[in-house]
Amino acid sequence: MRLAPLTLAFGAAAFWAALTLSAPAARADDPLRTQAKQLFGVIPELAPELADNPKTAEKIDLGRMLYFDPRLSESHNISCNSCHLIGLGGADGRANSIGHNWQHGARNAPTVFNAIFNTAQFWDGRARDLKEQAGGPIVNPIEMGITKSHAVAQLKGIPGYFPAFKAAFPGQPDPITYDNIERAIAVFESTLLTPDAPFDLWLKGNDAALSPAARKGLATFIDAGCATCHNGINIGGRMYAPFGVVEKPGWEYLPPNDHGRLAVTNTVSDDYVFKVPGLRNVALTAPYFHSGSAWSLTQAVTVMAKSQLGRKLSDSEISDIVAFLDSLTGRQPQVVFPILPPSVATTPQPVE
Ligand code: HEC
Ligand code: HEC
Repeated sequence: MRLAPLTLAFGAAAFWAALTLSAPAARADDPLRTQAKQLFGVIPELAPELADNPKTAEKIDLGRMLYFDPRLSESHNISCNSCHLIGLGGADGRANSIGHNWQHGARNAPTVFNAIFNTAQFWDGRARDLKEQAGGPIVNPIEMGITKSHAVAQLKGIPGYFPAFKAAFPGQPDPITYDNIERAIAVFESTLLTPDAPFDLWLKGNDAALSPAARKGLATFIDAGCATCHNGINIGGRMYAPFGVVEKPGWEYLPPNDHGRLAVTNTVSDDYVFKVPGLRNVALTAPYFHSGSAWSLTQAVTVMAKSQLGRKLSDSEISDIVAFLDSLTGRQPQVVFPILPPSVATTPQPVE
């Protein structure tokens, strides 16, 4: 210990001087922030590239058109934006969505914002990534209710789409394909990020960005164990867990006929296992859970503490956690509603 004599020699005065000098640095190194930085991440300003699907301005434009085009559904009535409204936090505010012929799906629509940072898509993780995901709802009989070949025929019947696909996929003689529809939508979705949430500003060093309640809530979120499942840049979206690790929630939250990941893996231990949802912008996306059964964050947090951790949190712990969750609302994407290429007399007509 070569430093020990030095410390002794300088004595108490030097010790206090060192403390005073390091005071501003000590504030920047807030231990809660150090811990939070290890557990979570900052939403970036710009979208990361998707593997094997370069992001070009033309592809984003095409993806935006397809995202908003109801003619990608059999009824010409339902677009991605019907259930993932850009102006409503990327979700639809319903317990479960209404799709083709007014059919109700079994699950709540999660937000599309920041979905690129989830390691798999859907509540049961059945789609690997955004591209694979995008192809799902179009052909889902109770969502957009069209077949792949009819979706392609539909777009081929709208003359304005050919140049848009050509520009997005240069060098392909026949660019209107189902694969390219998925690619363009995935690239557009990858741009739907919500940076600069108060929590992100705080992570980057702005002490004032978090209210005292939100700061306490963050500490409780970590200490109580929420962050063992809800972590990473999306504060979730990285792993699977049973809904009811310690105690099964009531059937109103966990409808008995939806077995979650069991249907994907056929593994008994996956019964009632769901993807841990990301909590970014969660204040905007009630109702909560795959069943859309909790209409307030207070209710969702109470259920989580009991079912996942076997804990009864105090009212102030819950309201602090909710204040922390409120701090996860970022700058919402400003999307200009695209002018869509018009249908012509020969465009396939809507089918009810
Ligand atoms: C009729 C309503 C409806 C339509 C239309 C719809 N979705 Fe969804 N979307 C849902 C529901 C419900 C889920 C959750 C389903 C599940 O997990 O089984 C979902 C899940 C997703 C997810 C996964 C997010 C996550 O965190 O797991 C993404 C991404 C997504 N949809 C994008 C799209 C795109 C792109 C389109 C258009 C091609 C689209 N959706 C059309 C209702 C809809
Ligand atoms: C063991 C893992 C685990 C722990 C610990 C955990 N959660 Fe969850 N959380 C989940 C899963 C899985 C879901 C999805 C449940 C469902 O709907 O099937 C979820 C859902 C949520 C939701 C609803 C999000 C939405 O968009 O519907 C909120 C809010 C939430 N958790 C907050 C918390 C809080 C706060 C804590 C700590 C008190 C916590 N969670 C602890 C795994 C966990």
